Amino acid sequence: MSLFATSRDIDVQAFAALCDQPVNLAHYPLAQEVVSRVLIYDADTLSTAARQDRQGMLSELHHLFRDGPGVMVVRSAFPDHAVVDRQSEVFRQIIAVEAESGVRADHFAKAGANQRIWNSLQKAAEHSPDSFIEYYANPLLGLIAEAWLGPYFQATAQVNVVTPGGQAQQPHRDYHLGFQSDEVAARFPLPMHRLSQHLTLQGAVAHTDMPLETGPTLLLPFSQHYELGYLAWRDQGFIDYFTRHAIQLPLNKGDLLFFNPALFHAAGTNRTTDQFRMANLLQISSAFGKPMETVNREKMMLALYPLMLKQLEQGELDEEGMQAVIAMSADGYSFPTNLDTDPPLHGMAPQTGQQLMELALGERWEVGRFAEAVEVMRAKRLA
Ligand SMILES: [Fe+2]
Repeated sequence: MSLFATSRDIDVQAFAALCDQPVNLAHYPLAQEVVSRVLIYDADTLSTAARQDRQGMLSELHHLFRDGPGVMVVRSAFPDHAVVDRQSEVFRQIIAVEAESGVRADHFAKAGANQRIWNSLQKAAEHSPDSFIEYYANPLLGLIAEAWLGPYFQATAQVNVVTPGGQAQQPHRDYHLGFQSDEVAARFPLPMHRLSQHLTLQGAVAHTDMPLETGPTLLLPFSQHYELGYLAWRDQGFIDYFTRHAIQLPLNKGDLLFFNPALFHAAGTNRTTDQFRMANLLQISSAFGKPMETVNREKMMLALYPLMLKQLEQGELDEEGMQAVIAMSADGYSFPTNLDTDPPLHGMAPQTGQQLMELALGERWEVGRFAEAVEVMRAKRLA
């Protein structure tokens, strides 16, 4: 058996057999229910489980993404809608500024079908640190990311607003191999196809209610199991199967959707005349993979630090929230670096941006000292 394949090897019957599996709720003791073969979780249950049996909770979610249907929803992950609304307003301001300066929104959709913010993570941190901190202080985002990717994950985020009448996407898989042509994907050995799905996690925060008529994402549970899927999603037979079997779940503002990037999915058609469907898409990368977007994490650290310091001093930000914001913003991994100028302090791994930020906030460094340390760290990592 060859460890390489091409698009001539795909088999829609084999795909259908994998996708046609039931979900056994008993395998997911923390889940609340199964709707259209998607596991639905309650935010409080997950948070409590993370405190009582963190490993068990992480293991259940990893199992879901790898062996199970590959997709989950957390209801009311942001119970305070005002937090979501303030971040939505930040996004709208960024969209307005970019529209005025002629930024071409989306290279992946027809003009006018949507409004897009690339790298909404860094832009939001620089535009409005206060809104960023209260939003990303939500520990659920990092918990779910860690369940799939382990620690030191690298968050990126993109906002997508699908305007009334905006058309559905073609079904596809996501980054890494989902962004390559069939010809390029075929050059990668099949174990790397499998690995591709372990290198990122796709998430979305619903910023508006998303009833079915607004076109929430179409999803095909279990489709991440098909080994040749990165060579198959452009095939008409697979598109037809997706069209017949994909499911769509209405979401509410503040809900989270997370799925394996190898899951076949497609944004739906917004059939309304007046509802703008807004999601903050989280693409979270393993420490071991190259993220899709460059993010200037030093700039983010500098933008967030003064306010985080103030909020910690005033008791407005707790330890858990601080850790969550650091995990979603600063770089958590020591490598790549310049080992001539950035030797490890202890062990074998040089200090990370996350460790520096944690140390500085823990010791309440004043802003100038922190800024200097960030500049030293940045410079010594360069080759
Ligand atoms: Fe996608």
